[in-house]
Amino acid sequence: MRGKRILLVVAGGIAAYKTLEVIRRLRDAGVSVRCILTKAGSQFVTPLSLAALSGEPVYDDLFSLTDETEMGHIRLSREADLVVVAPATADLMAKMAGGHANDLASTALLATNKPVLICPAMNPAMWSHPATRANVALLESRGIYRIGPNPGDMACGEDGLGRLAEPAEILATIAELLADPGQKPLAGRHALVTSGPTHEPIDPVRYIANHSSGKQGHAIAAALAKLGARVTLVSGPVHEPDPPGVTVVRITTAAQMLDACEAALPADLAVCAAAVADWTVDGPALQKMKKTPGGAPPTIALRPNPDILATLSQDSARRPALVVGFAAETERVVDHARDKRTRKGCDWILANDVSANGNQGRGSTFGASENTVHLITEDGAVEDWPTMDKDRLADRLALRLAEHLKGNPIGAAQEGEHPFDCTVLNSEH
Ligand code: CTP
Repeated sequence: MRGKRILLVVAGGIAAYKTLEVIRRLRDAGVSVRCILTKAGSQFVTPLSLAALSGEPVYDDLFSLTDETEMGHIRLSREADLVVVAPATADLMAKMAGGHANDLASTALLATNKPVLICPAMNPAMWSHPATRANVALLESRGIYRIGPNPGDMACGEDGLGRLAEPAEILATIAELLADPGQKPLAGRHALVTSGPTHEPIDPVRYIANHSSGKQGHAIAAALAKLGARVTLVSGPVHEPDPPGVTVVRITTAAQMLDACEAALPADLAVCAAAVADWTVDGPALQKMKKTPGGAPPTIALRPNPDILATLSQDSARRPALVVGFAAETERVVDHARDKRTRKGCDWILANDVSANGNQGRGSTFGASENTVHLITEDGAVEDWPTMDKDRLADRLALRLAEHLKGNPIGAAQEGEHPFDCTVLNSEH
């Protein structure tokens, strides 16, 4: 990171004190840091602390003539390799989403042509509010990067998702984002990721589905792209935004998912995170099935769907060098996952406890922002990972995959672009 320049926007949250540590560590790593302090931010940290740690003047007033002469807001936002917002408050993210420019921080964020990383921190209820969720989704769909928030105790006395990511995590993310593309550990690799549920039609208005939200699969696709991989994400119907820098192929059924995956090969690695329906309806009705008064409910005949993970793992000609699956289990989680790994022939499997745990009868992982997994590797060894945010889990997995592929030659999986670039295969989404 030595020699890189960061514009750091410090907004008004109690977590701003942690930002001081981020500045210190960045300076230690040879990064120059210029700070913009919002009015609310100055209630939590002083311009003097930021100036002392960064060794640069602190910018805090859009209309300061002196600053505008010496360093206009456009230059300020462009003379950086990366813009970091820490802490990113609900208010500042709402302004960013709405394109507001009524103070120096929001104006610089609107004017910048550089990558932006937000590090949200706020009360858990504010974080989970639909307005904040929508703003964050919009920002991410525009290519803005995010780290955190983390779960834990809050300064306000509540417990939940809302803590600023730790300085070390913020530093690691900044290092990833500042790395030259050629130096990213997955540069030159092609990764195939499946995500979300599949929908299997019963008739034109009904289908068989499951609770998968696509959160984990989409986060894995984003994490692999951050490490420089060319990523093809084959996704069933979900509400998640497309991860930045990823080619998304939208499908509906398991059969379409398999076709899209095969069309995307060759790939250096495949991560099958989709919750594929195991069965499809044998001959779905072409017209809406009607009730007849007093008639018996219909019997729906099912036939097995193709197993995409097993097909990719057992493809003798085009098997990706590393194939990773998930195992959704409700009991004897690790034992079942071990069997599944052997049966399907994949290299690694992430075992997921999806038992209901009071989640209104649905598995506790579905739709949640956190996940708990056990990683089972090719030798059958089990690693118990702590419960973490699905984004952090994705980052950790992506780094492990990159580490594993280090010795493999680059380029084997690059011939032939796949023909599905951003094609919508079904008008349902
Ligand atoms: N999978 C797949 N294609 C299928 C079914 C599952 O690619 N038709 C993949 C999933 O993406 C996941 C892994 O296989 O990576 C295990 O999925 P899971 O639902 O846990 O297992 P199943 O194969 O469905 O087995 P079971 O229902 O018996 O637990």
